[in-house]
Amino acid sequence: MDCIRVRGGRRLGGTVRAVAAKNAALPILAATLLTGATCRLRELPPIQDVATMMRLLGELGVRLTEREAGEWEIEARDLATYEAPYELVRQMRASFLVMGPLLARTGRAVAGLPGGCAIGVRPIDLHLKGFAALGAEIDLAHGRVSARVPGRLRGAHVYLDYPSVTATENIMMAAVLAEGTTTIENAAEEPEVVDLANFLNHLGGRVAGAGTRVVRVEGVRELAGPSQAGAAYTPIPDRIEAGTFLVAGVITGGWVAVENVVPDHLAAIVAKLREAGAAVEVEDARVVAEGPARPRATNVKTLPYPGFPTDMQAPFLALLSVAQGTSVVTETVFENRFRHVEELKRMGARIDIEGAGAVVQGVERLTGAPVAASDLRAGAALVLAGLVAEGETEVLEVHHIDRGYHQLVERLAALGADIRRVSPAPVLT
Ligand code: UD1
Repeated sequence: MDCIRVRGGRRLGGTVRAVAAKNAALPILAATLLTGATCRLRELPPIQDVATMMRLLGELGVRLTEREAGEWEIEARDLATYEAPYELVRQMRASFLVMGPLLARTGRAVAGLPGGCAIGVRPIDLHLKGFAALGAEIDLAHGRVSARVPGRLRGAHVYLDYPSVTATENIMMAAVLAEGTTTIENAAEEPEVVDLANFLNHLGGRVAGAGTRVVRVEGVRELAGPSQAGAAYTPIPDRIEAGTFLVAGVITGGWVAVENVVPDHLAAIVAKLREAGAAVEVEDARVVAEGPARPRATNVKTLPYPGFPTDMQAPFLALLSVAQGTSVVTETVFENRFRHVEELKRMGARIDIEGAGAVVQGVERLTGAPVAASDLRAGAALVLAGLVAEGETEVLEVHHIDRGYHQLVERLAALGADIRRVSPAPVLT
């Protein structure tokens, strides 16, 4: 399997363009199941999770054609099945996002149960409660979840115990074709939820309030398709990818400008970068961050949007490992999302986990070591740590990084990093 080798010590300098957000592209792709009309999506990021979602759609009978690089024509006129295979749901939990659209469109939906995950329990109870409130019968047996609705889903009040991102999205997609009005209370306010609502409305849905704690969906009998025939939809830029590149500049004491961003979506990240001593300039669709000689310690607590994103926790932990002073990083969104800590410690970081918090005593320098990515963002954090570690860091299990970053190695190299991807030599027989 491939690995990433990075030699630390180079200051980065340069500009990158953020690609469309993985977490917007995935639900939007799932939403194409809601209509038989042809949807056009632009700038879909060529990352593994998007490929997995496309494979899943293909298995469900959707036709996907790439018209030009990143621009896809997607047509779900005749569905072949309403079952999402366990193999795909196991690879990517976001596969579960097809449940809401399938249920709304066909009255049936089956998926392998997502099961355990490297970053906590991540149950799906909120998704299922939402479907049940809309009138679906839910059955859990043989490792599968099966939902069925006699006739059409009916609008209802749904209160989420936690503002789960994909539960909000799944219920929103189910409700779009339901009879009557659905209100989702304590909904997730993430920009990706807003983007999905905009896409649903682009297809003729009637979703209001996305981006606030209460989302209202007035069901329609069918989605007519894009109001202007052939109109393409471009998902919002990836705020987590943008944040990762900004940290890359700052951790090396250099600078990175990220273009094609929505600065509002980066507010918490920018605030924390400034607290860590970075000089950050925010322009229309561009953010530039320049690191100090050594970052300052600061406390970080992950929260639902607009709080600090859990997906930036691992990258920030890498930054704070080399800061002057002691920081406390508290993870409130997921349990058990500190698997990168052991790996950072192998590189000389001084971090103690106490319950949901990591106490980070900044060290002057990290040392390169072989380390393994345990999930997508953990992998990114190890690469970031490698950018400042003395000597060579070898990051293994890079398939996790490929799930969500497009050409991370090439783009960091273009910013001046000494980094390359190495494929194992073929085994001679
Ligand atoms: C989404 C993002 C992921 C991000 C996360 C939090 C996608 C494809 N993925 O994941 O990158 O890290 O939001 O911002 O958009 N929970 C329940 N019951 C449920 C669902 C969730 O208890 O039915 C809990 C989870 O265990 C977790 C918390 O809610 O503790 C947040 O999870 P959630 O917002 O659902 O994350 P995802 O939507 O899976």
